[in-house]
Amino acid sequence: MKRLVVLISGRGRNLQALIEAQRAGHLPVEFAAVISNRADAAGLDHARDAGIPAEVLPHAQFSDRAAFDTALAARLRELQSDIVVLAGFMRILTDDFVREFEGRMLNIHPSLLPKYAGLDTHRRALAAGDVEHGATVHFVTPTLDSGPSVIQGRFSIRPEDDAASLAQRAMEHIELKIYPQAVAWMARGELSLQDGAAVLRGRRLEQPATLDDLEDAFR
Ligand code: GAR
Repeated sequence: MKRLVVLISGRGRNLQALIEAQRAGHLPVEFAAVISNRADAAGLDHARDAGIPAEVLPHAQFSDRAAFDTALAARLRELQSDIVVLAGFMRILTDDFVREFEGRMLNIHPSLLPKYAGLDTHRRALAAGDVEHGATVHFVTPTLDSGPSVIQGRFSIRPEDDAASLAQRAMEHIELKIYPQAVAWMARGELSLQDGAAVLRGRRLEQPATLDDLEDAFR
């Protein structure tokens, strides 16, 4: 069984979806720990309620970004983490940290990457007049939000949408489905990073998988 560590900073809805998928028998992982860089992250309670060790590594107590990342990497090593899942972990990671976990670390981002790396994605999609929006799971590589995409879900933007309604649909209809699916592929050894590309069941993904590729358990 692969050992999973989930890194969070906030509400932990994606974390909760992973916990539920594991409980339902769809995610063959053992949660080694949930780590937050903020003591007040509500998602820590999801971990505690599920009996998963909930740890806080407060970034503010470190002198700089490199010192925090060094401590985080050391903890992930101690935890013998096979897969690192960034689930609303709002930290920019140093290259050294990313390189150590490259190929074993996934992130979810609330946009149709490569559009809108960084913050404020829903507002930026509206401001650009986009007709579609969505979310993407990708491998983490040193350039922010730019690693090879694994799965992406999209939906139509409606005239009455605002940033909050987009965020809510992206979460409910896309994020909470595609992340457990991607982590399940990885846990089963069906997903890997090879020569800078995401490879799913032996096939190099020129385009990310879509909602059509979700297995029934994740729909
Ligand atoms: C999610 O929408 C996730 O895609 C986003 O933060 C939210 C966390 O929600 N992540 C990023 O913006 C990363 N750059 P959650 O804590 O309830 O899962």
